[in-house]
Amino acid sequence: MKVAVLGFGVVGVGIWEMLGQAENLEQGPVLVRPGKKDAPWKVETLDEILADPSIDAVAEAMGGVEPAFSYGMRVLRAGKHFITANKALVAARGIELSALARERGLAFLFGAACGGALPYLQQLCLAHRGDRVLRVSGILNSTTNYILDAMQRRNMEYCDALKDAQALGYAECDPTADVSGLDALRKIMLACAVAFDRLPADGLCCEGIDRLTAADVTDFKRRGLTCRLLVSGEPVGDTVSAYAEPVLLPPDREECAVLDNFNLARFDAERMGRMALLGQGAGRYPTAGGVIRDLQWAVLGGRQMLSPACVKVTADNSRVRHRYYLRLPRALADRFTPEEYVLCGDTARIVTEPVSVAEMHAAVREMREAGADVFFAAMA
Ligand SMILES: NC(=O)c1ccc[n+]([C@@H]2O[C@H](COP(=O)([O-])OP(=O)(O)OC[C@H]3O[C@@H](n4cnc5c(N)ncnc54)[C@H](OP(=O)(O)O)[C@@H]3O)[C@@H](O)[C@H]2O)c1
Repeated sequence: MKVAVLGFGVVGVGIWEMLGQAENLEQGPVLVRPGKKDAPWKVETLDEILADPSIDAVAEAMGGVEPAFSYGMRVLRAGKHFITANKALVAARGIELSALARERGLAFLFGAACGGALPYLQQLCLAHRGDRVLRVSGILNSTTNYILDAMQRRNMEYCDALKDAQALGYAECDPTADVSGLDALRKIMLACAVAFDRLPADGLCCEGIDRLTAADVTDFKRRGLTCRLLVSGEPVGDTVSAYAEPVLLPPDREECAVLDNFNLARFDAERMGRMALLGQGAGRYPTAGGVIRDLQWAVLGGRQMLSPACVKVTADNSRVRHRYYLRLPRALADRFTPEEYVLCGDTARIVTEPVSVAEMHAAVREMREAGADVFFAAMA
């Protein structure tokens, strides 16, 4: 199968290199921006790829929704398989791409967009067809796991751990999508779409780790707890719950042993029970490896990760409840019914009674809008 590549950045270069060595696959041209063609195998327009009948598949690694969506539709209309690592694209327009690919009998696969090297979506897709998936969850963002682990094990301040992650190439110059939880949230949106035929497009709750301090981590350690950014999704009536938030975990939970930039992707299925995949969730070769795996799956006949039944829904996070840990100004602590209450000057650290995910995220948003500095995490 001859494969063209769209985009020649971190992931695109990795795909191109791995195509040169993979069985069954062959390097095709690489699309770069006009004026950036510096090799005979690079092209500056998509038309050159579409017009070449020897190209069977296109791997997209440009990022963003447009022009990736329009290009994907044109690739499929031209009768070529479309494989992408782009979670923003699949979250926004994946259902339309999947419908066209199905109509044409072509592959539309996006395993590398959720979990990088981990074959998570592929396994979810197979589990959904043979069993009933009950829950998807895990650590799906490498940058934040690196930062949390550095703060926990090396007592680093948040800013220093972030700089370290950037120096190692784990975090981008603008780390907002990672540290705000948005990147992990997009991944759980894709997992819900594959596992439950429900793509939660709004009503989502998202909390990151950018307000965490070394003093918070010292307090977690005193309690024997470890902080990880977890995502979770499960069916709720006709829709799903879907959210990303920091969670404080007791030492016997597997997530505490997920170190550095590793990911842990899990699902629970009715008959098969609990499954977990541990590995590299991002970076050049782990992500390119995920794209190559999807291409190999297409060679074997794999076509769709989304079923025709998949629809966009509004997530419902009002029925899942946790106890929450909060660090907040003392004057605001009365707003909750704390099970535990520790004061240190003007700051209170409390653990609440069970509160719904939607309620806690809304309450904190309101306090922040009024100018309060608040950190919160669910208690596992
Ligand atoms: N990096 C990771 O670890 C990782 C992990 C999982 C998934 N992904 C996904 O993989 C995709 C690519 O990420 P990346 O890290 O490789 O980004 P990147 O390093 O910024 O590479 C993107 C490349 O695509 C090029 N490009 C963008 N629009 C283009 C267009 N219209 N025509 C031609 N070239 C275009 C960019 O060129 P310019 O530089 O000129 O803009 C750049 O070279 C994203 O969807 C990302 O979410 C990345």
